[in-house]
Amino acid sequence: KKRIVSGVQPTGSVHLGNYLGAIKNWVSLQNTYETLFFIVDLHAITLPYDAQQLAKATRTTAAIYLACGVDTSKASVFVQSHVRAHAELMWLLSSATPIGWLNKMIQFKEKSRKAGDENVGAALLTYPVLMASDILLYQSDLVPVGEDQKQHLELTRELAERVNYLYGGRKWKKLGGRGGAIFKVPEPLIPPAGARVMSLTDGLSKMSKSAPSEQSRINLLDPKDVIVNKIKRCKTDSFPGLEFDNPERPECNNLLSVYQIITGKTKEDVTQECRDMNWGTFKPLLTDALIHHLHPIQVSITKMLPL
Ligand code: AMP
Ligand code: TRP
Repeated sequence: KKRIVSGVQPTGSVHLGNYLGAIKNWVSLQNTYETLFFIVDLHAITLPYDAQQLAKATRTTAAIYLACGVDTSKASVFVQSHVRAHAELMWLLSSATPIGWLNKMIQFKEKSRKAGDENVGAALLTYPVLMASDILLYQSDLVPVGEDQKQHLELTRELAERVNYLYGGRKWKKLGGRGGAIFKVPEPLIPPAGARVMSLTDGLSKMSKSAPSEQSRINLLDPKDVIVNKIKRCKTDSFPGLEFDNPERPECNNLLSVYQIITGKTKEDVTQECRDMNWGTFKPLLTDALIHHLHPIQVSITKMLPL
């Protein structure tokens, strides 16, 4: 069986982007593959954090995995910091990682710009090496993530190839090494729809845990009235009808895509259904679909309380 690994950081609350881009897809993969899903708490300390909140968010994130349908009789679910080899391998890998590769990471550039120099720890820069060790440690074949992790996955692949070349190749064999590949080179698994869920207040930026406005995201644990309110106030446009893929209508494309995925309909069906609608008709439809889809997840979490 091919092996799959992935993880979510226990920072802030898990939102619709995390769910549609990652967790929802894990659930279908666990039936076919050998799967390992971890809560990456060591990644969450790369920006200033509160220890008690981190402990609680770690439990909540685990509960969300289970409530979304991750099944521990099929998948291994664990906390990253509980397996020390993740951090140990990271140290070894970091000695093989050119710092220039890390300086090119878009997420590092964005996060460090926002955090300001005083708050940028070295770990924010070396974070992708920890992610690479999460993956390479298990000789993983596939890594299901959202679009924003593509660059980190590419670095992981290059790092695996570099280590294989430096320490696993023929050159090393002559010196008494094992020869052959040390690490399997993993492939990203990015879903065709939902890989980049956009903010509710700006269709050009992705939905994120760190955006200051709560209004910009739907959290998986948002109560019904909060969802109603967020969709009521979310950004729209004044074009007639609704359509996918119009570059001038990023919000419209995003909301239709969310509707499509959570209802399980095809893009063609949604195109037909919504082409003559206005926002006043579509928004209640989307709200209902979201509430309906998230309800069982929320009920299941409630059963696990207190966390
Ligand atoms: P993080 O919250 O950064 O730990 O992300 C956990 C997972 O959610 C990763 O696989 C991300 O690629 C995915 N993800 C985060 N934000 C979004 C988004 N707006 N749309 C789709 N996937 C996302
Ligand atoms: N860096 C990823 C994110 O922020 C989370 C992550 C850490 C991860 N280690 C991983 C994802 C290993 C997949 C595999 O979203």
